[in-house]
Amino acid sequence: MKGIVLAGGSGTRLHPLTIPTSKQLLPVYDKPMIYYPIGTLMLAGIKEILIITTPHELDQFQRLLLDGSQWGVRLSFATQANPEGLAQALLIGETFLGGEPVALILGDNIFFGPGMGKSLSRTQQRSGATIFAYEVENPSDFGVVEFDSSGRVVSIEEKPASPKSNFIVPGLYFYDAEAPALTRTLEPSPRGELEITDLHMIYLDRGLLQVEILDQSQTWLDTGTIDSLHGAAEIVFGIEKRLGKKINVPEEIAWKMGFIDDEQLRAQADKYLKSGYGDYLHSLLG
Ligand code: TTP
Repeated sequence: MKGIVLAGGSGTRLHPLTIPTSKQLLPVYDKPMIYYPIGTLMLAGIKEILIITTPHELDQFQRLLLDGSQWGVRLSFATQANPEGLAQALLIGETFLGGEPVALILGDNIFFGPGMGKSLSRTQQRSGATIFAYEVENPSDFGVVEFDSSGRVVSIEEKPASPKSNFIVPGLYFYDAEAPALTRTLEPSPRGELEITDLHMIYLDRGLLQVEILDQSQTWLDTGTIDSLHGAAEIVFGIEKRLGKKINVPEEIAWKMGFIDDEQLRAQADKYLKSGYGDYLHSLLG
């Protein structure tokens, strides 16, 4: 399975922070935002990853992420000229995917929790599509899942004024090889976007959509607004201090997954001796 991180968009809800740079390059406490979704894909065992950025921010991402070999993965880059919807990632990535299944993750979504890697690597073996449902207090800002009385998913509504549940669809989706072809059948919505929810409705109508509830031992954070970005940094800070461990560090995940060896980890650690990040990587080696 291959992975795509969608990291374009305009980030208007974070202005003026996102005037000079991409939202996904802003810090979430001790690392750039995009490290979190890349780390999540790596935890799922994915080593071939396409990063989609805006054309004008591409060079900044490349300077940060290089070609991925430092983390034992292969990173490719593509651009999205305009923010014309999440589903467009599957069209931009079609050649990269080459008919293989894909995990698509949004560049501003943070996932962590016990057993996350194991449950994600199980997910990728399925056919059809698998998405997640996560309970939140403010569902109206997201795609909201509607369940019938037996708990079956009957619909998903994008940013509904009157949400039918508190369960939203976070930005991590697994699709079979059909996804680009199905995306080509979508029409842009009234807001001019190819809506990921419309793609999910196609899978649902065909009986091929799995919706897994992310239980509350798992954490999902969105970072699209000033308050949620600040809140995410506070949460990561709190957890890392409490556990004495960092979360979603690509170097650490790469090493634990066997993508890089001790020597390669040490070389990465030596790059960051002044920020504490390098000390942390060194401490993993004992
Ligand atoms: P959003 O937060 O919906 O949009 P945005 O990043 O443009 O921000 P704002 O609403 O403040 O203007 O996007 C969610 C994620 O998906 C984010 O990581 C950016 C990415 N994205 C794209 O890369 N291309 C797109 O066409 C859209 C809609 C989003």
